[in-house]
Amino acid sequence: RTLDDLGDIKGKRALVRVDLNVPMADGRVTDDMRLRALLPTVLELSNKGAKVLLLAHFGRPKGAKHSEMSVSMVLDALQEVVGREIMFVPEIAGDVVRQSVGILADGDIALLENTRFWPGEEKNDPELAKAVAENGDFYVNDAFSAAHRAHMSTEGLAHVLPAYAGRSMEAELKALEAALGNPEHPVAAVVGGAKVSTKLDVLNNLVKQVDHLIIGGGMANTFLAARGIDVGKSLCEHDLADTANAILETADASGCTVHLPYDVVTSVEFRSNPPIRTVNVHEVAKDEMILDVGPAAVEALADVLKTCKTLVWNGPLGAFEMEPFDKATVALAKTAAALTKEGSLISVAGGGDTVAALAHAGVSNDFTFVSTAGGAFLEWMEGKPLPGVDALQTD
Ligand code: 3PG
Repeated sequence: RTLDDLGDIKGKRALVRVDLNVPMADGRVTDDMRLRALLPTVLELSNKGAKVLLLAHFGRPKGAKHSEMSVSMVLDALQEVVGREIMFVPEIAGDVVRQSVGILADGDIALLENTRFWPGEEKNDPELAKAVAENGDFYVNDAFSAAHRAHMSTEGLAHVLPAYAGRSMEAELKALEAALGNPEHPVAAVVGGAKVSTKLDVLNNLVKQVDHLIIGGGMANTFLAARGIDVGKSLCEHDLADTANAILETADASGCTVHLPYDVVTSVEFRSNPPIRTVNVHEVAKDEMILDVGPAAVEALADVLKTCKTLVWNGPLGAFEMEPFDKATVALAKTAAALTKEGSLISVAGGGDTVAALAHAGVSNDFTFVSTAGGAFLEWMEGKPLPGVDALQTD
């Protein structure tokens, strides 16, 4: 059920789970993507006259109160994005919340304290859910990025109050359905990042579902090494050679073509703008590290994308945070963005590094959908059920 299924909500109390777990530096929010994502739901509920009570976690306080992890740290940035005054309530249940709700006018918005200050949040304690639910008439989950957690505020509340998916949750699920649930083939997946070990389940799931798997980043080195290629001093999990080969075999059996770089950019130093070489993967010197996919391989990958209808992307192709090792990621992101703009490709991306890489390439707004999720996006790519989503589907 979505917000379309809500009847008259004027004067009703909406408990809305949002994700305020945003990066901060020197007391300021450095990326407000998650704040912008909650805007449609919060404004819609407020404009329809509901009293909106926002629930969120911030950091990992592990069931204890830490003032530096109060969600009030995010209040100013949230008010700026929402464009309304928001009341901060330093509790999530009980009299303080009841009294605060009592002074809210219809359409007003309040922010309740970090749900993870209470141990019952992560334990998904039904008693805590009941206590929180006493101050709400219905529950909206708009935090797809926390939906992989079976916590009180992401899962438990859906069982004690009428539960609805918010607009951001709805958009995420629609995009993910288009990308992997019921996609138009051929489907390509780009999986990058440092280590194979952190994305084993992702790779194992994807090779059974997609037509092309493009592997980049440090994890490509593990696959190259497993194929007997000397990767010099590159980041590489040599102990995962058998695992990597097993993934390649499953891909073969499933009709998935795996694309590994055949030319690479190398250096002996891991820093910005060091001396570099662009070489065939068989020519990496003993003292060199592979730090990016090479230009010939990027061109070939662009040709692969041109034959595809759907793309799902998680992880950069190279050490994109250091120039010039951002080149392959930027070039392929630009190709994907151009194909999306032309209307020939549905492109969905997710994960913190990926979102940063797309922003760096200047194409964040040109993908069909960029997810707000990190861990939840990965678990979805692993094919795992997401408790926060499942709870919305059972009455
Ligand atoms: C995230 O930042 O990915 C979500 O908010 C979940 O946070 P968590 O990993 O601390 O559960």
